[in-house]
Amino acid sequence: QIVHLADYRPTDFVLERVDLTFELDPQATRLESRLIFHRREGVDASAPLVLDGDELVLTELRLDQNEMPASQYDLSPDQLVIRDLPGSEPFEVTVITTINPEANTQLMGLYRTNGVYCTQCEAEGFRRITYFPDRPDVLAPYTVTIIADKAANPVLLSNGNFLGGGNYDEGRHFAAWFDPFPKPSYLFALVAGDLGVVEDTFVTMSEREVALKIYVEHGKEDRAAYAMDALKRSMKWDEEVFGREYDLNIFMIVAVSDFNMGAMENKGLNVFNDKYVLADPETATDQDYANIEAIIAHEYFHNWTGNRITCRDWFQLCLKEGLTVYRDHEFSADQRSRAVKRIAEVRHLKAEQFQEDGGPLAHPVRPTAYREINNFYTTTVYEKGSEVTRMIATILGKDGFKKGMDLYFERHDGEAATVEDFVKSFEDANSVDLKQFSLWYHQAGTPLVTASGIYDAVAKTFTLSLEQMIPATPGQSTKQPMHIPLSYALIQDNGALLDAPKVSGGQVTADVLHLTEKAQVFVFENVPTRPVLSLNRGFSAPINLDFKQSTEDLVRIARHDTDLFARWQALTDLALPNLLQAAKDAREGKAITCNPVFISTLLEAAADEALEPAFRAQALALPSEADIARELGSNIDPDAIHKGRQAILKAIAESGQSVFENLFNTMKPEGAFSPDAASAGKRALRNSALGYLAYVTGGTERAAKAFADADNMTDMVQALTVLAHRFPEDAATAEALATFVKRFENNPLVLDKWFALQATIPGGDTLNRVNALMEHPLYVATNPNRVRSLVGSLAFANPTAFNRADGEGYRLLGAQVTQIDPRNPQLAARLLTAMRSWRALDASRADHARAALLEIDRTSKLSTDVRDLIERMLKDS
Ligand code: ARG
Ligand code: ZN
Repeated sequence: QIVHLADYRPTDFVLERVDLTFELDPQATRLESRLIFHRREGVDASAPLVLDGDELVLTELRLDQNEMPASQYDLSPDQLVIRDLPGSEPFEVTVITTINPEANTQLMGLYRTNGVYCTQCEAEGFRRITYFPDRPDVLAPYTVTIIADKAANPVLLSNGNFLGGGNYDEGRHFAAWFDPFPKPSYLFALVAGDLGVVEDTFVTMSEREVALKIYVEHGKEDRAAYAMDALKRSMKWDEEVFGREYDLNIFMIVAVSDFNMGAMENKGLNVFNDKYVLADPETATDQDYANIEAIIAHEYFHNWTGNRITCRDWFQLCLKEGLTVYRDHEFSADQRSRAVKRIAEVRHLKAEQFQEDGGPLAHPVRPTAYREINNFYTTTVYEKGSEVTRMIATILGKDGFKKGMDLYFERHDGEAATVEDFVKSFEDANSVDLKQFSLWYHQAGTPLVTASGIYDAVAKTFTLSLEQMIPATPGQSTKQPMHIPLSYALIQDNGALLDAPKVSGGQVTADVLHLTEKAQVFVFENVPTRPVLSLNRGFSAPINLDFKQSTEDLVRIARHDTDLFARWQALTDLALPNLLQAAKDAREGKAITCNPVFISTLLEAAADEALEPAFRAQALALPSEADIARELGSNIDPDAIHKGRQAILKAIAESGQSVFENLFNTMKPEGAFSPDAASAGKRALRNSALGYLAYVTGGTERAAKAFADADNMTDMVQALTVLAHRFPEDAATAEALATFVKRFENNPLVLDKWFALQATIPGGDTLNRVNALMEHPLYVATNPNRVRSLVGSLAFANPTAFNRADGEGYRLLGAQVTQIDPRNPQLAARLLTAMRSWRALDASRADHARAALLEIDRTSKLSTDVRDLIERMLKDS
């Protein structure tokens, strides 16, 4: 059944307090839940109390401590309805349930992983623990008592501050926790087990000391140091930039190895996928370090944007996620290189969100209906949601944005809010109207802005014509023009930017043109010579831009813009036509050529010592095969794209051999390994050079030597990837793969890399390799990280293998989805989204893909998660 935003209404009963007592047992955990409610004012005296449940066994039910007669309630596995409750005075309902954590393979609710009890309740997992009003607008303070076997579970954790603990009975002990901040059930957490801990403290801006604890498996404590450092930097940054201080006496993070998502912001007790906590130079790449920093920050920032102010209903998910992603992006930009961070964000946005927005799963940032909320933890809600927040900051400016945020915190602290509340805070704080802007929350689809410019040498004017078009998306055939903020610069002959030109034709603030009409003309005056327009600098709006600029104009931007993002964008715009033409030529069996001006401009940037190495590495990472496919839009042949792109890479490598040799020889950071951004940038540039050098003679030997010489995981994985992807059949590759797996056989996170880099070897033969790897003794079909590293990498990151012309890749994924679904629907559904762009494939592949989807569709007992996706993907649009 479908949930509609329009049907929202508050609950009939107000929850005042929650008191939970868990008696943990691997197969039969007993939970006594005592809930104090009162009837909301104005609610009919006959209205019953309705509690949600999922796969629960009810053992006892009491009203004000008296056993409830069976006639007073109706019980089903997913609902408990209680009648004849008091009119206005408070009453207490006691619900006693028994659950089996060990049998919980969905990893939602209370489950066990490696002997550790843990919980995941967002979005609707708490109802798998007890009957409860399991919705985000029901907020209450919680007291939690955990009783468990002392030897097996020396550590007993829940949300809030520690009240006390001690021995309980034969072999058992207990701990009690109290969280004074009213919270919804999705933020509940419990962890129990035998874990090691790393401890530190943080002194807040009002000089309160907060205990910081990161819990990991015994023996892995050293690998939590970087996460702890990132946490302290996050806490400081949120005070300095957003004025947000932490509120409890203790902040805890627990790393677990079986987790469906990245991490979860439970109040005071974040639970993490261990891949986003554990790192050391020997086993973690620079990307791992950057991810840990970003996700530690993200979950911590949720304490204010998500927990103190939560969501009224799940339609408002972007209220906490889009905003918190924006905050973690800003944090990383401040900790590292802002421009390089922005480039990485936009690459990711285009690869994932633009693809989603252009296919059958497209939906608005703030949806109005869902069948399964778990399917809406999407890149649109998260990443486009962040971009929408960024645009508010662009439109209002730094100070205006801050004023709006401050008002939002002041007005809504302790509440469950809506997107409208959020937008209104910015409107009221700045006396502006954001009505048209709000369409970004409501209209799905990536806007296409078409631009053209004419210079009048006599009048000294430059006239820019802009037009916007928002494509139709499922359920939304017509769209209104949006408010699109476009950052711009006019670059003169000498490379200098024209300073503050006079502009007419619409609203212009600082360097931002505000496109608000369907079509709009901006006229710039006193422009001495024909300028080159750099548009949508910094990716100020998440749009597709159709602006035909000559090679010379793009080269001017690539050389001279003061916005590094725009320089990267210009290099990308120079690369794309070559890659598109190469794909076309490869398909038609023609010779592939590459524009020498593009190659020389790229090599110039790569060798430019005035540019930071991380930027140069980003420039050298050409648009991916998926990017090229997205640009083509339809009738996609992934083999031709691959072949064409390889030929371009080879042409660049041959022209730039000496540049790449020089970079490879000089870019090794001095001294002991450090994960800082500058060192990581050097490694990225050096490894990029290694990748190009694989296209010229001696490539295998050079990569094999780089693998042998590597003294950190970044270099090791990169060298191994070059070997495996470029020389899969070479003896050196087989040897390196064997050395690697032997050395790291006891480190699951490193093994994930070993599986992933083999699953991404280009070409159809990789399907056989993946099938063989699924039988490998180190493959663990029940561990989400391992499944994603093998099956996920194949489906999401290997276009030529996954889209093998005979359709075998789709069948492999389909079989995995139907196999995993009964056990873990969220994991199955996430894997299935790899097929979201199937209609863009060439006719023969699309037929195979449809057949594979129909095969899944015919499976009798699909989860709601998979059923919802399959139906949306197969629906004729
Ligand atoms: N709130 C978590 C985060 O963004 C993610 C929870 C994902 N939940 C889900 N049902 N997919 O940090
Ligand atoms: Zn989040």
